[in-house]
Amino acid sequence: QPPLRIGLIGFGCVGQGFYDIVQRQPELGLTVTRIAVKSPTKPRTLPAERFSLQADDLLTDPELDLLVEVIDDAAEAFRLVSAALRQGRRVATANKAMLARHLPELVRLQAECGGTLLYEAAVCGSIPVIRTLDQYFSHEPLRAVSGIFNGSSNYVLTRMGEDGSDYGPALAEAQAQGFAETDPALDMGAFDPRSKAVILAAHAYGVFLNPEQVLNLGIEGVGAADIARAAAHGRKIKVVAGLYRLPDGCVTALVTPQLVGPESPLYAVDREFNGVVLEAEFAGAQFLRGRGAGGHPTGSAVLADVLALRRGLRYGYARQAAAPAVQLTQGLAVEA
Ligand code: HSE
Repeated sequence: QPPLRIGLIGFGCVGQGFYDIVQRQPELGLTVTRIAVKSPTKPRTLPAERFSLQADDLLTDPELDLLVEVIDDAAEAFRLVSAALRQGRRVATANKAMLARHLPELVRLQAECGGTLLYEAAVCGSIPVIRTLDQYFSHEPLRAVSGIFNGSSNYVLTRMGEDGSDYGPALAEAQAQGFAETDPALDMGAFDPRSKAVILAAHAYGVFLNPEQVLNLGIEGVGAADIARAAAHGRKIKVVAGLYRLPDGCVTALVTPQLVGPESPLYAVDREFNGVVLEAEFAGAQFLRGRGAGGHPTGSAVLADVLALRRGLRYGYARQAAAPAVQLTQGLAVEA
């Protein structure tokens, strides 16, 4: 079969990681035909003529079989992705902030216009958690979905615990390795894992939360002394995201620093790794662990979506119909 022609929008850390993985595996039958970036004159690893197009040119290009959107700007990403879906296109995105804000609209556009959107790379980098919830556990009532959803803050906490590193240099390391958001306050303030919790709530419980309905507390106030005190009691401080089904059937979601002990599989999830614990009614508990940030791990998840789009995969959103309305209670989202 002829190679699948990809239009790549964005060539930052994830875009370059994705491009590199595709180039290294010609046997996959993929070709990145066009690349569009915001600043075409910026020095890059590829010749300048590869960046001569605008993102809008790619949307309507009949030579492209599907689009990959990996830009930073959530509003612009929504404009592009929603326009592509209106044309019935197949799109893979990694933009968690965009998805957390606009998922209901993006689901509606797919249903009405026949396009497809996959976004495994948006949550926990390389860990196939959305696919697991949407495809594999669609029949399973879930008691809880919890985990470490942000690599940068986990990296900073780990480094501070290892040798008493200060917050600033530890964050600089996370940035240098391409784990952090352009605005690292999104990582350190737990806004980034909040977006991921919102996305997972849709697939785990069929609930479309607004990001503001999820309480998020970050690590800006956590010092090396706090981490050392926790360690003296055999504990680590981790930013844990939790989606919990309460005994009355309500769902609550929050992302906060917590003390984690060795009895939890999250205890051993350090540096940029992420971990997700799924507590299913019948299957029992399962634990997924993998790299949650970085160009290659996240690019690998984008590539998995591209191959899935080629096979015709769509998310089922199986729980959506059953989901009751969501009420806001003191910053905690409670599904009535
Ligand atoms: N800044 C994010 C993180 C990147 O640190 O987890 C992956 O979404």
